Amino acid sequence: MTLIGPSLMCADMGVLKESVIILDQAGVDFFHLDVMDGSFVPNFTMGPDMIKSIRPYTKKPFDVHLMVKNPENHLSTFIEAGADMISVHTEATEHLQRTLQTIRDNGLRAGVALNPSTPIEELKYVLDVVDYITVMTVNPGFAGQKFIPLMYQKLSDLKDMLFKEGYNINIQVDGNIGYETIPGVLENGANMLVCGTSSLFKPDITFEEAVTNLRQFIE
Ligand code: DX5
Ligand code: ZN
Repeated sequence: MTLIGPSLMCADMGVLKESVIILDQAGVDFFHLDVMDGSFVPNFTMGPDMIKSIRPYTKKPFDVHLMVKNPENHLSTFIEAGADMISVHTEATEHLQRTLQTIRDNGLRAGVALNPSTPIEELKYVLDVVDYITVMTVNPGFAGQKFIPLMYQKLSDLKDMLFKEGYNINIQVDGNIGYETIPGVLENGANMLVCGTSSLFKPDITFEEAVTNLRQFIE
């Protein structure tokens, strides 16, 4: 099954609680919460308090995408804020294996995110402590960017590598995931779609319509 997850950094922060409630009712599968430190990526978004503030309004999993340096120093903060899944960037930590193991030891699902230029071989010796892999299909930091075409090949190579190594791990794609790019990412192995300005957060359509349209397009 292909999972749909709104990227809440694309939401109107003035009505974030209402957006979460409506998106939950519209049938999304998880919520993608981008956290940025202005250092690993040149931007800032939501912090633990914002995540904590919307936690009571949905039971759907919170997928916290840590685009921060040394994410191992911040895991407890986001676990306490209500994360169910945490993805960390290979490029942001010296100790990827230990960081992923710590996420799992706390009962959460562990994700590893790859910047577009990072080879999939980086994952080879942590596949046994990974529950999902986030292939960044844009350079991290901002919504509304253009999909990087070589990421189709990267997804295909990743799918082949996981098959060869005997792992069945969820592949998440994050960045400009919309009607032009969904067929290609699904064909190349993705099964978790982070949906932002290209598919869910559009001014001329309600969340209910956007989710229904997406679901029909995917099935
Ligand atoms: C970018 C974030 C993405 C982004 C997606 O660094 O990780 O989740 O918000 O937004 P769109 O879908 O507009 O590219
Ligand atoms: Zn993200």
